[in-house]
Amino acid sequence: MSKIDYIINEIEYAVDTLVNVKLYQTTDSVNLSSDNLNSDDKLQSIKVMRVNHMGEICAQALYRGQAIVTKDSTIKEELYKMCEEEKNHLKLCSTRLKELDGRTSIFNPLWYVSSFALGMVAGLNEKKWKMGFIEETEKQVNEHLDEYINLVPKTDKRTKEILKIIKEDEKRHQKKAGELGSEELPNNMKNFMSIFSKCIKKVSSYI
Ligand SMILES: [Fe+2]
Ligand SMILES: [Fe+2]
Repeated sequence: MSKIDYIINEIEYAVDTLVNVKLYQTTDSVNLSSDNLNSDDKLQSIKVMRVNHMGEICAQALYRGQAIVTKDSTIKEELYKMCEEEKNHLKLCSTRLKELDGRTSIFNPLWYVSSFALGMVAGLNEKKWKMGFIEETEKQVNEHLDEYINLVPKTDKRTKEILKIIKEDEKRHQKKAGELGSEELPNNMKNFMSIFSKCIKKVSSYI
C-alpha cells in the first residue's frame, strides 16, 4: 500500500471505531443481558463504563498509531493482533453502556487523535522502548481495572463480570510485551502517562 492508502485506511478505521457502535452478537462468547438496577447504581455503572469505553477507544488508537510506523513485521503483526482483542473489549463496553442507557464520552474523537499521536511517537523508538510503552500502558490499565472493578455497585454483577473478562486479556498483553523484549520506561515518562490518563478519565466520567 502507498502512504496515501495507509492514511485513508487509518481515517476509515478511526471513523468506524468512533461512529459505528459495535455490539456483542449472540454468537459471541459472553452472554449479556439487561438487569434491573436502581437509578443511583445505574448512574454509577454508566460512569464506570463510559471511562472504560473511552479507554478502549484510546487502546485502538495507541496500537494503530504504533503499528503504522513500526517496520518490524513481527511486532507489527503482534500489535494488530492485540488491537483486535482490544476491539472485542470495545464491543463489550459499548454493549454494556447501551444496556444501561448510557452514552459515550463526547471527547472520544479528541482522545483518539491524541492517543494515535502518542502511539506513533512510541512506535518510532527502538524496539525495547516501544514494547516498554506497551507493557507500561497495559500495567496501568490493569491497575485502573482493579480500581474500577471496585467502583462498580455491588448490585451490578454484569458490569463487574465484563471488566474481569477484559482484565484477563490486559494481563496477557502486559506479559506479551515483556516477552517481546521490553525495557522499563523512565519514571518521568511513566508519570506523564499516568497523569494524562487520570485527566482524561476524570473528564470522561462526566461527559
Ligand atoms: Fe482493552
Ligand atoms: Fe490491552
